[in-house]
Amino acid sequence: MKSELDTLSIVVIGASGDLAKRKIFPALFALYCQGFLPEKLTITGFARSEMGHAEFRERITEHLTCRYTPGEASCAEKMEKFLSMCHYVSGQYGSTDAFLDLFTHLQQFEDHSRVNRLFYLAIPPSVFLDVARALGNAGFVYCGETSPWSRVVIEKPFGHDRSSSDELVRELGLVFSEHQIFRIDHYLGKEVIQNLMVLRFANRIFEPLWSREHVQSVQISWAEPIGIEGRGGYFDQYGIVRDVVQNHLLQMVSLVAMEPPSHHTSASIRKEKVRLLEHITPVGIEDIVLGQYTAAPAGQPAQVGYVDDDSVPNDSLTCTYAATLLHINNERWAGVPFLLRAGKALDRKTTEIRILFREIDNCVFCEEEGCPHTNELVIRVQPDEAIIFRITSKVPGLGLEMESRDLDMQYNTAFSELIPDAYEDLLLDVIQGEKSLFIGSKELAAAWDIFTPVLDTIDANHIRPLPYPFGSSGPAEAMDLAVRANTVWRQ
Ligand code: BG6
Repeated sequence: MKSELDTLSIVVIGASGDLAKRKIFPALFALYCQGFLPEKLTITGFARSEMGHAEFRERITEHLTCRYTPGEASCAEKMEKFLSMCHYVSGQYGSTDAFLDLFTHLQQFEDHSRVNRLFYLAIPPSVFLDVARALGNAGFVYCGETSPWSRVVIEKPFGHDRSSSDELVRELGLVFSEHQIFRIDHYLGKEVIQNLMVLRFANRIFEPLWSREHVQSVQISWAEPIGIEGRGGYFDQYGIVRDVVQNHLLQMVSLVAMEPPSHHTSASIRKEKVRLLEHITPVGIEDIVLGQYTAAPAGQPAQVGYVDDDSVPNDSLTCTYAATLLHINNERWAGVPFLLRAGKALDRKTTEIRILFREIDNCVFCEEEGCPHTNELVIRVQPDEAIIFRITSKVPGLGLEMESRDLDMQYNTAFSELIPDAYEDLLLDVIQGEKSLFIGSKELAAAWDIFTPVLDTIDANHIRPLPYPFGSSGPAEAMDLAVRANTVWRQ
């Protein structure tokens, strides 16, 4: 039951951190500007740092934007009203008393209406369970699914491997029921990733071609041109496989490869994603190439290598690059290589999915003109969102010359609408109780099963990653992986 009289009370725990400042508060402001938040709203930041409401408001203002409220005056007015609903309480993360203080604070703003509570845990994994337990002990968590509800949003890393993830699921389950837990993988909120299901299941032309009969390989590439820049405290414990591949890239694999869900509901979608993940063979050590960036070569702008970053131990073996080959053992995909690569400190920023189609059998042009290039569907997630279909075309002229050309849908010209930030969509879904863009516990377990054995082998054998220079395309050995899969990486 939903009522206009209900109050929405959002508590961001870890409110003084970067995630809160850069993503959560700007997304809440964007939702507020578009009228998606209820009239009766209160937003409270909670963290260990001591600060007053005014200082807190000043901090979060820095990243609020006027993209949904053009016009200086109206934006300033909205911002002022939004900030007046934002408060700050400081306290220790594991302390029930601190959460009781928070409770007392909240009561000032929550009058006597029913209060729906949303807790966003933007905190390091080490204090995750302490906070969850303190919330439970302070009496914040109601059990019901309908209003008044309590929901908790958690950010990865969800554990370190299958068993630590299971333990986290179990322990968190003692405070919140599964229906109250929203595990964020922010890539699922990205516009182009949300378009994957529409592209596949709302267009007649793709689904008949979407199988081993027509697809030669699938490549997913993720690259960042920046290094670790002082964030080694978190990253060095996890590395690129746990940070990016096991979650963001695997989510893309699921959406590209899963069977059509029976309905457009979170239960059907999650069921198909789990089924797909369970058909992926756990990665073997022979199917992964690991790298760690070194300093930028002479002649290029100076950049230190990974282990020379102040926040990273000098002898770290943590990988900043991984390329891996996945095998999906089901009727649709058996034998089709899914190649994934992800790296920091590379030569570009990109996230894209490429579906490479097979050559045409018995092409009539092959004898005289040379075989046409194969078709390729490129789904560019970022930057410059686009969907591009590469076809072979006759070059205008009197002869018969063929070349590849792109049917090119660039989002910035095809649509006049603004592309929302992933967190806007995800937060709205939490408020509306919509779970299809969040990771269920079964999905999480299935995703860990794919990578846990190889991560154990890497850790147990202290496998040394291959060096690659800052600003390069990663270790050359990743090319061999593609060659073994009978393909080449496409740019
Ligand atoms: C995070 C990773 O999940 O995603 C970071 O922990 C990475 O290492 C970031 O930099 C990239 O997100 P985006 O949205 O900028 O591609």
